[in-house]
Amino acid sequence: MKKQTLYIITLLLSCLTTFGQNSKIPSSIENIEMKIDSVLSLMTLEEKVGQLVQYNGSWDLTGPASELGSKQKEDNLKNGLVGSMLNVLSVEATREAQKLVMENSRMKIPLIFGYDVIHGYKTIFPIPLGETASWDLDAMERSARIAAIESVAEGVNWTFSPMIDVSRDARWGRIMEGSGEDPYLTSVVGVAKIKGYQGDDLAGDLTIAATAKHFAGYGFAEAGRDYNTVNLGENELQNSVLPPFKAAAEAGVATFMNSFNEIDGIPSTGNKYLQRDLLKGEWDWKGFMVSDWASITEMIDHGFAKDKKHAAQIAMNAGSDMDMEGGAYESSLAELVKEGSIEETLIDDAVKRVLRVKFKLGLFEDPYKYSNPDVKKNISYEDHRKEARTIAAKSIVLLKNEKQLLPINNTVKSIAVIGPLANDKDAPIGNWRAQGEANSAVSVLEGIKGAVNKNTKVEYALGTILGTSERSFLLPLDINTSDRSGFQAAIELAKNSELVVMVLGEDAFQAGEGRSQAKIGLAGLQQELLEEIKKVNSNIVLVLINGRPMEISWASENLPAIVVAWQLGSESGNAIADVLFGKYNPSGKLPVSFPRLVGQEPLYYNQKNTGRPTNGEHVTYSHYTDVKKDALYPFGYGLSYTQFEYGDLSLSRTEMNSENNIEATITIKNTGKVKGKEVVQLYLQDIIGSRTRPVKELKGFQLVELEPGESKTVTFPITTKMLEFYTANRVWEVEDGEFNIFVGGNSIDLKSSNFKFKN
Ligand code: NOJ
Repeated sequence: MKKQTLYIITLLLSCLTTFGQNSKIPSSIENIEMKIDSVLSLMTLEEKVGQLVQYNGSWDLTGPASELGSKQKEDNLKNGLVGSMLNVLSVEATREAQKLVMENSRMKIPLIFGYDVIHGYKTIFPIPLGETASWDLDAMERSARIAAIESVAEGVNWTFSPMIDVSRDARWGRIMEGSGEDPYLTSVVGVAKIKGYQGDDLAGDLTIAATAKHFAGYGFAEAGRDYNTVNLGENELQNSVLPPFKAAAEAGVATFMNSFNEIDGIPSTGNKYLQRDLLKGEWDWKGFMVSDWASITEMIDHGFAKDKKHAAQIAMNAGSDMDMEGGAYESSLAELVKEGSIEETLIDDAVKRVLRVKFKLGLFEDPYKYSNPDVKKNISYEDHRKEARTIAAKSIVLLKNEKQLLPINNTVKSIAVIGPLANDKDAPIGNWRAQGEANSAVSVLEGIKGAVNKNTKVEYALGTILGTSERSFLLPLDINTSDRSGFQAAIELAKNSELVVMVLGEDAFQAGEGRSQAKIGLAGLQQELLEEIKKVNSNIVLVLINGRPMEISWASENLPAIVVAWQLGSESGNAIADVLFGKYNPSGKLPVSFPRLVGQEPLYYNQKNTGRPTNGEHVTYSHYTDVKKDALYPFGYGLSYTQFEYGDLSLSRTEMNSENNIEATITIKNTGKVKGKEVVQLYLQDIIGSRTRPVKELKGFQLVELEPGESKTVTFPITTKMLEFYTANRVWEVEDGEFNIFVGGNSIDLKSSNFKFKN
């Protein structure tokens, strides 16, 4: 036997024989790389391809391996022809599946188990769009940490989260799943989530691999219609879509997922520039790319591949490493290599990437590490719910509060809680609920009842129903447009109550995958009900339960108080009550613009000036003739029960270069009567560029808590990195010139100054 082969086998044995023994192999990078090479060198082509195949279990699998799918799938697991499964839930189920591989296959390479843990596993946190409204990165990291712990307790070691698709279109159902319209905010939230899921070391006991998705451009679907064509120019792709993905790669996210859409005629799944040249090349990222569900095969429908085999060839050449339930790699990759249509080195690279993540997770040391029933025993789900309540309260955004209707005074004698979502325990769980149970949230009615003192009478009326069909992830939702049988009782109740809390908005499954809408107002009979109630009692607080920005112009004009409560998860009603009664002073700020009319979509604050921003008296400028062009409530907006006054913005100097940064300083004072938290936002504008630049872009923010009367000075270092963009030279760099700088409590009301950059 040759010396080299002997060496490889010895090395390999040293790692394979430790399976199940829990011994700690030092997991230094070089060590892992050597092991990966050793394992790879002993694999057949078929076994290599197997590592790139991912099977679906069944949706809510809790049973034994026989339920993992067909007999064929089971045999393939036994033969080591599968690298991963998704949707296999429970430690018993993952153990069963793992055993099939570990006890039967030649190479004994453990499976990795993926699942969509998007905003919690069992304890459900606010939908990501809502949680982003907290601007509280520590809180978001924490909710991801809890989600990871609960996932580990159920055998899951890989989440398909965070979704870091920038989206500017409220019609797109999946806007709920991301962090809104801003690339910077999306980047920092994505990194916080990755840290939460993956911890400091993936090898830790309660950490799971994260996924940066969907690479790329999925949030820019034309007309907000899910899966639709994306026409994205280089400027927008580089400057708006890719930055969160670069940040995720730099933060060490274990995996990426590509996307269903095409960009400029090339499906992302088959996009070599994005996956191979940029992500794995220029960015030097070492994890693996999983396809989206059957997105490799879908290239046939795109009209980009002629059959499965062709699709597999395109995807592998482009750098798509694992085929999620699409069957293309499984059926064609080996053949493509044998006939010389694909270089085996590409397969090797993909396999190494998959093995790397498995090594990092510690699966080679103990393949059953994530199938440990004891983890669950040590979890206090009650504590997790407490944390969910805190985070949910932080995510609420107060849009309007006239007559100081809020916080609700404890002298109020009677409160009418009205609306189809007022006592709904399911809508707040939202879409992508993992194992969050149906109807398990605290409803607004329950929250309010738990918060009032005994002298306040709380009564409830449904008013109208919202959806008439069964709620389900896959089925369409029928909206009620005819049943007004509850109107009269609701009107009577409102008439006889001092205050009305109207709880309206969206069903759990109005937002999410495949849930794009051309209308984003109050669906069904909700608007009509609201107007009828307003006729008898104008003391109305509107609580919106929503998965997207909604069209609420009528409410904004006619009601004194509006609270955006998103879909806040398990503790929704309690968190809402905390805000309504002033136990928590609202501090959330919108991560997306709320339009006046849906026709303004896509709408975003960081737009371009255009050549005709204004034109005096004439109509020939960039605007609408029937509605103002700005947002009803802009990005970054949100009120508090106190007021904050911003002093002047001062700069440490008015010229900077790459050696000398500027510091921007501003003083904020709480001029109101209660303690409050403000999100102090920093925006920059590069006035002239080799490519036109947005009117302003978020570049930093700080959370400041102030006692009544207290002032604090906030300092933002302005770094070169903040000034960079993807220029006409096709590189990220700073261009010499003038910059405007803005600081304030939302993207419109800002203090400003300016400076020059000269290298
Ligand atoms: C399709 C979705 O686009 C993706 O985000 C998700 O992770 C997969 N399905 C798996 O459920």
